[in-house]
Order: sequence, then structure tokens, then C-alpha cells
Amino acid sequence: MIRRSPEAATTTTHQTTGDLLPAVPLLALDRQYAALREQIREAINRVCDSGRFVLGPDVADLEAELAKALGVPHVISCASGSDALLLALMALDVGTGDEVIVPSYTFFATASAVTRLGAVPIFADIDPVTYLVDPRDIEKKISSRTRAIVPVHLFGRTADMDAIGPIAVKAGLPIVEDAAQSILSTWHGRCSGSLGDVGCFSFYPTKNLGGAGDGGFLTTTRDDVAKSLRLLRVHGMEPRYYHEVIGINSRLDSIQAAVLRVKLPHLDSWTTARQMNAARYQEIFSEYDLASRVAVPGDEPRGRHVWNQFVIRVLDDSRDALRAHLAKHGVGTEIYYPVPLHLQKCFTHLGWAKGDLPETERAAEQTLALPIFPELDSAEQRTVVARIAEFFSATTRTAPIAKPRQEVLANTGSLPSPHFIRRAVGKADDVRC
Ligand SMILES: Cc1ncc(COP(=O)(O)O)c(C=O)c1O
Repeated sequence: MIRRSPEAATTTTHQTTGDLLPAVPLLALDRQYAALREQIREAINRVCDSGRFVLGPDVADLEAELAKALGVPHVISCASGSDALLLALMALDVGTGDEVIVPSYTFFATASAVTRLGAVPIFADIDPVTYLVDPRDIEKKISSRTRAIVPVHLFGRTADMDAIGPIAVKAGLPIVEDAAQSILSTWHGRCSGSLGDVGCFSFYPTKNLGGAGDGGFLTTTRDDVAKSLRLLRVHGMEPRYYHEVIGINSRLDSIQAAVLRVKLPHLDSWTTARQMNAARYQEIFSEYDLASRVAVPGDEPRGRHVWNQFVIRVLDDSRDALRAHLAKHGVGTEIYYPVPLHLQKCFTHLGWAKGDLPETERAAEQTLALPIFPELDSAEQRTVVARIAEFFSATTRTAPIAKPRQEVLANTGSLPSPHFIRRAVGKADDVRC
């Protein structure tokens, strides 16, 4: 273990200290699994022994437990967050030629659910500070063909529902919340998923409540929509082999439900750990002179931010070089999202061009997600920020920017093996939405 004296800590150049810092993965699901291994295996065995693999008692129990946790009357599980969005729009009768307003700065599924129904996504720009859909742009884009508004609670932060709610009411439009990244986020004390007509969530493993594979669920306060969703997820079939409407096959596996039921009781404390990690990043960044280089995300005063991602903005054009520097030193990062949806090749026929959504396009070029998972420790966070400071010191060729405190150096430990670095980066590369 290499330790440094306080004098050495303040006088050592960053290049030298940097070589001692360990790798940090973007996400380490193995740490969460290690703590719950026995319970998860027992739950999977129980489902295998029962022979009930699709829907079944574990799914019904999970839906009831989620309804209680989120304070909503109806939870309807399904096969993925992408299907949740599709089902929500189907339940609201969105169809050919209809328009649905969505942000362009989001995961692909938010818009593909619209196009799969023959409807047209109308992309709205974002607020440059929160990266959330800009309510003023939503209002501008409402037309006589608009059938729904889909705000995305991106990165774990609830969209500005104080503004979006009244816009939807005035226009007589339903709201579908894309809450895939924001389970347990709140707005004035109410959970996301209970703020509009339908809420759509994902159990994809990178989410705050992730399964052992794909899965998702919907929330609604409306009895009519709940009834429709329950029908649509099973081919519109009621009773068996009699089809009232044309639905899809989108059911949650019992094994997923059993695993998620083991994890759900921990979600609140995992969320608190994410919030603490975010606060710690904010503090560590403030110890460095990086404010002119990096914009650090802030808290949401009107509700609970659940920090599915901690996304910084690199204020010059060096985001990709910074990312390469971090990868070289074993720090996992991700770009959410490098190509805005309105500029994706598959949507060329919709006629959008570069320059149409300036804030979205700027965010796609400048943002970078850092590790924020609940089991991340403070030494790892200090390493991440020290590596960022090291990059900017090297690129400016002036005096080092970083002002590392003694603990940064005390926590560095011994040199990581190349194998450890490769493993950490490999895991980061597996992460998508
Ligand atoms: C904002 C957003 N919407 C929808 C989805 C789709 O969820 P899934 O991957 O479960 O289909 C994701 C991520 O997966 C997402 O991040």
C-alpha cells in the first residue's frame, strides 16, 4: 500500500499521483449481487420448483408491492420499458398519422414506440441545465394532430411537471411519463408514474431497480387505462383464445419478478446511497478549479432526484478526449446519448436537420456520465475527479489544475493490474441505456 505524507500530497505533480489511482467501473452489478446472492438464488429455485414461469403469483405480488411503494392504484408489469411505452400509447388509442411530442435527448424507445404505431414523433428541445424536456418547446409544438405528450424523467430527475401538467390540461392531452430511469423520483412528494395518465418503467439491469434480464411495468391512476393495459399485454385476450382487441405479447417472467421482489426492499436505501454519491461528487468537484471546464449536475429542489446517472457537461470540445483519457486509466464512462433522436438515420424521413434543436445537439456533444452506482465508494469517486483534473492539467500545459486533498492520495492503494483495468472498462462497455 503506497501512502504519501501531507507534504508530498500537496507538492506531487498530478501526473505522478495519477499513476497510482485504481480503476473505477461505470457500474458494478456484481457488488449488488454479492450482497443478495443467496436470496436471489433461493427465489429463482422457488420459481423453477413451482413450474410457473410467466406471470403467476410472484408477478402479482411484485405488482402489489410496487403499487404500495409508488403510491399508485394500478401497476401492470410487462416485458420491457420499451413495451411499456408502446402499451401506454396503444391504451390511449394513438395511431396512424397522430403526433406525439417527445424529447429528442432520450433513449431511442421513447420515440420508436410512437413510430411503431404509425404515429409521428414531434421532437422538443431540452433545458440546458437539467437536460429535461423544455415545457415551452412542448407548448410550441402542439398541433391539431397531437394526441399525447411524453416527458422523460431523464437520469433520475423528474421533468418540470409544474409547467407540463397545465400545458397538457389546457390542450386536453394525456401525459405518458417515461420514467424508465426514475423509479422513486418524486415531484412535490408524489412519485413519478403518478403525475400523468400513464407511467412507463424499465427493469433493465442498469436501472435503479434492475432485474436479471429485461422487464418493465406501467403505472396509472385511471381504472379504464389499467383495464386496457392488462388486456393489451396478453394479445387482447379475455377469456382465453377470445380476442377483444389486438394486443401484443408482453408479459413479465416469474423469475424476473421473484428476483425483483428480493431487490425492491433495498431500493430506497440504494437510492439514498446514489443521492449521497451525487452530493459527494458535487463536494469533490468544488475542491478543484474545474468550474470553467466542467458543469456538474445539481439537485432538484421540487422533488427527489434518484440519480440513475451523474452526467457532467464538458464545456469545451474535449469531451471525447476526456473520455478516452478516463478509459485509458480504467475509469468507466458513457455518453447518453451521442446522436439525438431527431438526427438518427432511421428518422431521416421525418425531415429534421442539424440545428433544429440546438440545446439537444449541444448536450449530445458535451455530456458524459460518470460512475454513480450505490456501492461506489468515496475513494473511487475521488479517483474519478482526480483523473478528470489530471486530463485538464495535461491539456492546458499550465500549472496543474487539481488541488487534491490528502485523502485522494491516501486512498489510492497500490497500482491496479492491467487485468483489473480491462475488466472494469469491459463492464462499462456493456452498459447501454
Ligand atoms: C428513457 C428510457 N426510456 C425507455 C427505455 C426502454 O427500457 P427497456 O430497455 O427496458 O426496454 C429506457 C432504457 O432502457 C430508457 O432509458
